[in-house]
Amino acid sequence: KQFLIAAGCILAMVTGVAQAQERPLRIAFDVPYEPFEYRTPEGELTGFEVELAEAMCKEMNRECDFVVQAWDGMIPGLMARKYDAIMSSMSITEQRAKRVLFSEPYYRTPGGWFAKKSTSVDVTDRSAMEGRVVGVQRGTTMDNYVTENLGNIVEVKRYTTADDMRLDLESDRLDLVFVDYPVGEEYFLTKDNFREIGEPVKLGEGVAVAMRKRDRELAKEINKALETLKNDGTYDTIMNRYFDY
Ligand code: ARG
Repeated sequence: KQFLIAAGCILAMVTGVAQAQERPLRIAFDVPYEPFEYRTPEGELTGFEVELAEAMCKEMNRECDFVVQAWDGMIPGLMARKYDAIMSSMSITEQRAKRVLFSEPYYRTPGGWFAKKSTSVDVTDRSAMEGRVVGVQRGTTMDNYVTENLGNIVEVKRYTTADDMRLDLESDRLDLVFVDYPVGEEYFLTKDNFREIGEPVKLGEGVAVAMRKRDRELAKEINKALETLKNDGTYDTIMNRYFDY
């Protein structure tokens, strides 16, 4: 009888482990951040990273749950185990790499300056930038850049969502925004009263999946899946749907 109980315990432990592995992988996105993650008019999640995540999960043969999370709570939410991975155009930086584990990069994006067509300013000329009102999304690489390099020259307005920042540029509460280049392109260059200003600025070491430090196995699995998707053409197919370069 004791033997049976012991065997039962082992069985329960083994199925417990198997179940833990079967648990859906939860991936977090900050929505909307076009073209990376946003909703269709029908309310469905889509975008470059959403489609990449779908392909990745299929390749890993894992069920995935997609979680919507505001950008300013991204890393805390990961630490609190609200989800297991972040795919939110998060650039690899030294500072973040102290807290999270990054996959190999799957995209690179510089920061871009955008303004109304009526605004003309040389962003590299500090005196011309004096007193300008610049919008950034709080806690991004663009926020860090502006704070460090222009913090005492311009007035920095920090936004929780990229969408609110867009609205404020549209309604002239901002002179300029500094945002991930493809997002600015999608938001502003599709309309004819906006333009790009100056040169894009390289920030971070590419965009990658962020995970908890101890989830090394997951990182390996994700890197392997991303590599397969790059080699079999799936990555390019998804990429071409969202970017024309
Ligand atoms: N790439 C920038 C960074 O890592 C901005 C990312 C913001 N992402 C978002 N989904 N809102 O800081």
